[in-house]
Amino acid sequence: MVHCDLVIKGGRVATATDVLEADIGITGETVVAIAKGLPTGRLEIDARGKIVTPGGVDSHCHIEQLAASGLMNADTFETATVSAAMGGTTTVVPFAAQHVGMSLAEVVADYHERAARGAVVDYAFHMILADPRPEILRDELPGLVRDGHSSLKVFLTYDRLRVEDEQFLDVLWAAREHGCMVCVHAENHGMISWMGKRLVAQGLTAPKFHVPSHPRLAEAEAINRAIAMAAFIDQPLMIFHVSTREGAATVRRWQGEGTKVFGETCTQYLTLGATDLDRPGIEGGMWICSPPLREPDDREALWQALGQGTLATVSSDHAPYRMDESGKLARGPNPSFKEMANGMAGIELRLPVLFDAMVSQGRMSLTDFVRLTATEPAKLYNLHPKKGTIAVGSDADLVIWDPEATTTITHDTTHDRSGYSAYVGREIKGWPSHVLRRGAVIVEAGELRAAPGSGQFLPRTGGAAATPSGRPAAELAHLG
Ligand code: URP
Ligand code: ZN
Ligand code: ZN
Repeated sequence: MVHCDLVIKGGRVATATDVLEADIGITGETVVAIAKGLPTGRLEIDARGKIVTPGGVDSHCHIEQLAASGLMNADTFETATVSAAMGGTTTVVPFAAQHVGMSLAEVVADYHERAARGAVVDYAFHMILADPRPEILRDELPGLVRDGHSSLKVFLTYDRLRVEDEQFLDVLWAAREHGCMVCVHAENHGMISWMGKRLVAQGLTAPKFHVPSHPRLAEAEAINRAIAMAAFIDQPLMIFHVSTREGAATVRRWQGEGTKVFGETCTQYLTLGATDLDRPGIEGGMWICSPPLREPDDREALWQALGQGTLATVSSDHAPYRMDESGKLARGPNPSFKEMANGMAGIELRLPVLFDAMVSQGRMSLTDFVRLTATEPAKLYNLHPKKGTIAVGSDADLVIWDPEATTTITHDTTHDRSGYSAYVGREIKGWPSHVLRRGAVIVEAGELRAAPGSGQFLPRTGGAAATPSGRPAAELAHLG
């Protein structure tokens, strides 16, 4: 009889499709058996009364990244991935962010170095293209895609990062040729800039005015325009961080027409709101992120869109900035909302907050929770079935949940470097008791057991999601 290195005994094992009571046998880094009554392992974890899910896949997070504001965010690869691991996330897809004038290949090499030094969970990169000049698309992008970086992000807003429509078409065209998924930050830059200037001119500078400065129609307009351009080129597109009812409806309408477009939302758009920014002084700045937090109606629409499959993933958009001169107060002690870095920490609480909302509060099923936080992001970015599921042959990335554990979030609960939490005061039910990465227990009872640099790079090429549907616009036939 073959004995596994580790057997997780008697848990309720959840995938994106099934929940069953079973033992999980692990040898080396891999799941080798899922069955009742497995023979004793060399090591065992008693998971009776617990729930076992795949390790989380956070497919949108900013780590050790130079942001649109020109600031480096608060985390290093080590601190962000320790934070991820503590919350049950074992795979992250942060960004390698090009700024104007930079070589994309050099940027990717830089981020590789930072991640190799610090990461404690496995990782891939989305490339950010802020300067898609012809030589980058011709001489650098193809090799980078071949090296396993098969997704990129472009911004339609932010002064330093945004691309114009023609540049976006160039990116879509090159991505289609090389088999690369395109992700987009879709908000109308002109509407945001126009509103921002007028609000500030009228002295309306408090954090809460960040919300009207990003009009909800700015999101719907840019989503519609981005999808129209992607449909024209026939390039699959992911709409990042959908925050509004109108934004979700726009994605749904194009999907209904057979367009290959995917949608993401983030924990904060489902569970926090515009009123969180309405606090004395600059305190509300902790809740400034883009797109901004929205209204109860929007949250309801986003939950429905997740249920209907319009939105396929829930990411963190982790973008931590301290509330001091290194972060949100870099432009002075009393900045306007326009002068504050955009973003909040979320890589650690994404899974516990969603477990509470979906599973403990019964908003969705356990299989939905797994699908939205692990399996779908792994599939969309071509990490599945190595990541994002529990199956024989998959990496043994697992979270063992104590479904009864209750935690009240404080500013000290998490391990990122922002120094505060947007979820402060919230009581949540369900918490990871063990986190396994490729068969190693890297978190047990709140203690980390992983060395910086022990995370591995996950090269990705092609994948069904990035494959064009084969129906480019008729006009393109003239181009040969
Ligand atoms: O406010 C946010 N989300 N900051 C990060 C950059 C982005 O737009 O994704
Ligand atoms: Zn974005
Ligand atoms: Zn982001």
